[in-house]
Amino acid sequence: MRIVTLTQPGGPENLAVGDAPKPTAGAGEIVVRIIAAGVNRADLLQRQGHYPPPPGASEVIGLEVSGTVDQVGADVTGWAVGDPCAAILAGGGYAEYVLVPAGQVIAPPRGIDLVSVAGLVEVAATVVSNFDHVHLSEGESVLIHGGAGGIGTFAVQYARALGVRVLTTAGSAEKLELCRRLGADVAIDYHQDWPAAVAEATGGRGVDVILDVMGAKYLDANVASLATDGRLVVIGLQGGRKATLDLNRLLTRRATVTATSLRGRPVEQKAAICAAVAERVWPLVESGEIRLAPETRFPIEEVAQAHRRLESGENTGKVILTL
Ligand SMILES: NC(=O)c1ccc[n+]([C@@H]2O[C@H](COP(=O)([O-])OP(=O)(O)OC[C@H]3O[C@@H](n4cnc5c(N)ncnc54)[C@H](OP(=O)(O)O)[C@@H]3O)[C@@H](O)[C@H]2O)c1
Repeated sequence: MRIVTLTQPGGPENLAVGDAPKPTAGAGEIVVRIIAAGVNRADLLQRQGHYPPPPGASEVIGLEVSGTVDQVGADVTGWAVGDPCAAILAGGGYAEYVLVPAGQVIAPPRGIDLVSVAGLVEVAATVVSNFDHVHLSEGESVLIHGGAGGIGTFAVQYARALGVRVLTTAGSAEKLELCRRLGADVAIDYHQDWPAAVAEATGGRGVDVILDVMGAKYLDANVASLATDGRLVVIGLQGGRKATLDLNRLLTRRATVTATSLRGRPVEQKAAICAAVAERVWPLVESGEIRLAPETRFPIEEVAQAHRRLESGENTGKVILTL
């Protein structure tokens, strides 16, 4: 089968298409014949050598795919060869076939282009699991950093569907406009004094929840932007990993700071998250309440260009590889 190989850690020029043996499904596993793979920021880090796969995972890059069931292992029920499907992975997505624990495979939403689903499943799993983690509830407010990105375009719409007031940040007028179109109540240019804008938009109260993709750079301002009993969940470290935390700001707000990673979760947790996505997100996608993010597609042979595109910061929404 075709796979994307990495000759050595570094730039996109180190990515190439090569060959590898096709996997075989064991007990509890499914082999997916991939038609598309989502490209994620974590893939860029793995290519650079900064984000090795967890123990036992494929060395091949790629965390989410869509396609059809190619093989069904022993003890797996509910699937037949040829069924359309999507999956979240610990690795191995940039390939023609991938071996996946059955719990991480879900049926795609009905009526949606199967290629696009490859760009939906990882963001949906990430956002649902993190909103659950911090108990984001109807009637609350959330600040989503990077509302026009892969995570952000989904998070804005899902939060809106939960009945939450959505504030978001983005880096250009065009991206701010997209955030508003997706349902954000307040869209703030992050080049400006965004903490002041959050304070103004919330009458000085702050927000109940922040979904953060910046990490260290925003820690102080994020905590200062939380309401009483507020929760900050960090899922990205684009602004670094080490910062000073003012504990007085936490205790005066009874606030919580937490951080999660989807990739390293045990299979059982990933299976529960996939089930939640199928149950709670797919109906919203099927009804059109959550629209697909803009996407840029590249054939797998142009994987280096796909990485350059995401790395440039110019992309809006998702980058997808097609096979
Ligand atoms: N922990 C997990 O389980 C998990 C899972 C998936 C993704 N992630 C992480 O989540 C982050 C976003 O992923 P993605 O797939 O959405 O990547 P992406 O599509 O490349 O989006 C990156 C986002 O970061 C925003 N951004 C850049 N600089 C910013 C700043 N100074 N202030 C506010 N926002 C800023 C960008 O906004 P503009 O485009 O407007 O500049 C863009 O929306 C990445 O760090 C990724 O590793 C974590």
